[in-house]
Amino acid sequence: MTLTEPDPSIDILFSAERIAARVEELAEEIVSGTADFSGSTDPSGELLIVVILKGSFVFAADLIRALDRAGASPRVDFITLSSYGAGTASSGTVTLTHDLAEDVAGRSVLIVDDVLESGRTLAFACETLRSRGAADVRTCLLLDKPEKREVPIEADYVGFAIGDQFVVGYGLDMAHRYRGLPYIGVVRTV
Ligand code: IMP
Ligand code: MG
Repeated sequence: MTLTEPDPSIDILFSAERIAARVEELAEEIVSGTADFSGSTDPSGELLIVVILKGSFVFAADLIRALDRAGASPRVDFITLSSYGAGTASSGTVTLTHDLAEDVAGRSVLIVDDVLESGRTLAFACETLRSRGAADVRTCLLLDKPEKREVPIEADYVGFAIGDQFVVGYGLDMAHRYRGLPYIGVVRTV
């Protein structure tokens, strides 16, 4: 296999080109919506992007550069939340394994995460930031699996909706593999 050939064990759902085009659109949507981010008491009015690690680091890296092209220059911070361990089924309990460096009180925050599935991770992140006094909390998810929702929560910005399938690539892993793939796909089981 050469570096440019797709991994034969993966069925590609979203190509690198399709992801790049959608990330550009999302950045435009976010920038045109930032006027609606309300209640910030931060005098700089700066948007703070909170990236939920690890799965969304590739998406976030592309999104902040697309935001810059769209005219926004947000601050960026990171939080590590875990609900999966090394398997492909959520454990049901979200744990905070690495906290933010920034104080979010009074800030307008945009949470960036990879996949919205049961909703527990996103709900936990939103509750945590609101309980710390964030003035406005919005959410941007690369992928949404609406069929899998167990907690009533929706994202403000969604890249793509998908069915009940476990996906890898573009930062997403299966037991720590496949994060470096430029596309998003499903691992073939046979
Ligand atoms: P939730 O808490 O059930 O909504 O799960 C969300 C988290 O599970 C995401 O932040 C991902 O890290 C992980 N996750 C959910 N589905 C997938 C998938 O298909 N591939 C890789 N990670 C996933
Ligand atoms: Mg995650």
